Amino acid sequence: MSALEQDIAKILITREQLQTRIADLGQAISRDYAGKDVLLVCILKGGVLFLTDLMRAVAIPHAIDFMAISSYGGTLTESSGVVRILMDLNSNIESRNVLIVEDIVDTGRTLQYITENLRTRNPASLKICALLNKPSRREVNVTLDYVGFDIPNEFVVGYGLDYNEHYRNLPFVGVLKPDLYARPNQSGTDTV
Ligand code: IMP
Repeated sequence: MSALEQDIAKILITREQLQTRIADLGQAISRDYAGKDVLLVCILKGGVLFLTDLMRAVAIPHAIDFMAISSYGGTLTESSGVVRILMDLNSNIESRNVLIVEDIVDTGRTLQYITENLRTRNPASLKICALLNKPSRREVNVTLDYVGFDIPNEFVVGYGLDYNEHYRNLPFVGVLKPDLYARPNQSGTDTV
């Protein structure tokens, strides 16, 4: 067992379960967007492993772009919902079919900000594909068009998801041992 794996209380979603579900999502997206100009917008950094596997599962031509946002003033395990754009898209999305590729939806505040922002740029359509969803934590209403897995209210890491920038490289999604994140981040620190 690696040093990183020793910090995991339990594996929630295995590498195989991730790949099987992502193949299904890729098929659904390929069917729904057939013949359309589709742009996958990955939200950095957590969505990057999901994007690279998802795009290999999408069988139709598509473009990709990236956006990095930060959540200001939250803790290392909770976003504040006060979001700002650190890195914007390269592409003009006007009249294009945009599919946001996000790692996890918790309160929904981050995606609410992103969708409101992107909608002002007049895409032909704007949908969301989230790998993980914590429905019990939702504070604002966001419509998720594609969801990989609904998960319980636990802080998870791996497959792109981090705690203080670590654990993103784990090939599975796991629950971090709670004693490792007992100390909250100082208020006012940016987290991505
Ligand atoms: P929301 O704005 O509360 O929906 O939070 C969404 C963002 O918080 C995600 O994009 C992640 O960066 C982060 N996040 C929420 N829950 C977790 C988790 O369990 N593990 C790692 N990051 C998380």
